Amino acid sequence: MNRVYIKTYGCQMNERDSEAVASQLVARGYRIVDREDEADVVLLNTCSVRDQAEQKAIGKMGYLARRKRENPSLVIGFMGCMAQNRGAELLERLPDVDLIVGTQRFHHVPDYLDQLTAPRDAGIPVPSSIVDIDEEAGSQNTIREHLTDRKRVSAFVSIMQGCNMACTFCIVPKTRGRERARPIEEIVREVEGLAAGGTREVTLLGQIVTSYGRGEIPERDGKSPFVQLLERVNGIEGIERIRFTSPHPRGFNADLVRAFRELPKLCECVHLPLQSGSDRMLRLMNRPYSRSKYLEIVNDLRRSVPHMYFSTDIIVGFPGETDDDFRQTIELFDEVGYDMAYIFKYSKRSGTPAATMEDQVPSEVKEARNRELLECLSRHSQRRNQALLGTTQEILVEGPARKGNGYTGRTRGNRVAFFEADERLVGQLVPVRVERATVSSLYGSMELVGMEETAGIGMRGITN
Ligand code: SAH
Ligand code: F3S
Repeated sequence: MNRVYIKTYGCQMNERDSEAVASQLVARGYRIVDREDEADVVLLNTCSVRDQAEQKAIGKMGYLARRKRENPSLVIGFMGCMAQNRGAELLERLPDVDLIVGTQRFHHVPDYLDQLTAPRDAGIPVPSSIVDIDEEAGSQNTIREHLTDRKRVSAFVSIMQGCNMACTFCIVPKTRGRERARPIEEIVREVEGLAAGGTREVTLLGQIVTSYGRGEIPERDGKSPFVQLLERVNGIEGIERIRFTSPHPRGFNADLVRAFRELPKLCECVHLPLQSGSDRMLRLMNRPYSRSKYLEIVNDLRRSVPHMYFSTDIIVGFPGETDDDFRQTIELFDEVGYDMAYIFKYSKRSGTPAATMEDQVPSEVKEARNRELLECLSRHSQRRNQALLGTTQEILVEGPARKGNGYTGRTRGNRVAFFEADERLVGQLVPVRVERATVSSLYGSMELVGMEETAGIGMRGITN
């Protein structure tokens, strides 16, 4: 009764939460398995950002509930955002579900599973279902354990939870609560531990990382708490690359823009969620910037690092979005020339202000706008990748590629690359000359000259 399978939906924070739960379960004597049909316990870590993500998890749970009827000892549960958003209401539809645990109570999962899997004849009463979606002060500090079963070249580190913004389309403030930061020292200790175990790249995670520690940790020398944290992580021996997600455009003040030039480990790759290129839409979305302010940030960053890579999030078909508004998004999209973008069709989230706005956009229109923007994106990604042909890129070798017998890794700009290598190079920075480029990937061969430089981080700037 101790084999657990965890399926994760949604963003990297969810991946990270699942990993922390898995590691706490291992410490409690459970075994994490990669196959659902071998598990005694199946947990779905859910996402609420769009309806489709919720429906997928509900569909999956319906299937698990049918399996549970044949095998009543199977324990099934929801964790995370949808658990938080819907709570006990989920039991009305899926009464067989044993466990519902919200986003601030992940660390109680081992206790709950102990109760749910206790042998029926042990005299311990087995609860029918456990629902826990309480808020808990300090819960942001509980997402800190990592699984240590394999070498992890690149790792995610949760630095904060929650978001205090009120974008009118977004359910995240409801599912993740108010902003709560982990102390700098604790994050530094976690990253040092990862570095000692072989991690070379960390991605700092939070729903709005640029607001990290705001109001709790004082500014120092004009530097925000987030930039102070970046500086500390930059100083950790063994770490070669730092990334972060997700920031908010309004967090890109002079100190952060400068950090990209001054902190050699901070990769020149920025995720800058735009949502819409129309000022009218941005106002309705309650996004506190205009298109011109956004472009100013892009230009500041490009002045700081000319070959900066950009990715973004866009919502098409927000209530009231006209063709003209959408044209403005396309125009801005072309002007920035993103390397990568996540394009979403607006999805009504009940309880958010946008859900009751007038002029909801018909799904065919959302679909057409989505398609048009995806075509734009693929043109830009292709062009940006083609521009790397013939250049030498610094690649952090992550491991063998899933297909074929080559290896895979990423450039500082977060482009995936495939090349011949060997096991000893996993976790190292190597120069790869780009010979072929598709929309999503680069293919090349390792350069042997200059190999002696690869142990350091001195290769920044060879990209262009
Ligand atoms: N800063 C957050 C953003 C959360 S949601 C984070 O990364 O944790 C990620 C993206 O999903 C948003 O930037 C937005 O583009 C999209 N999104 C959020 N709510 C949405 C909705 N109701 N419909 C469609 N897309 C949405
Ligand atoms: Fe959501 Fe806006 Fe925060 S997109 S996570 S409310 S910045």
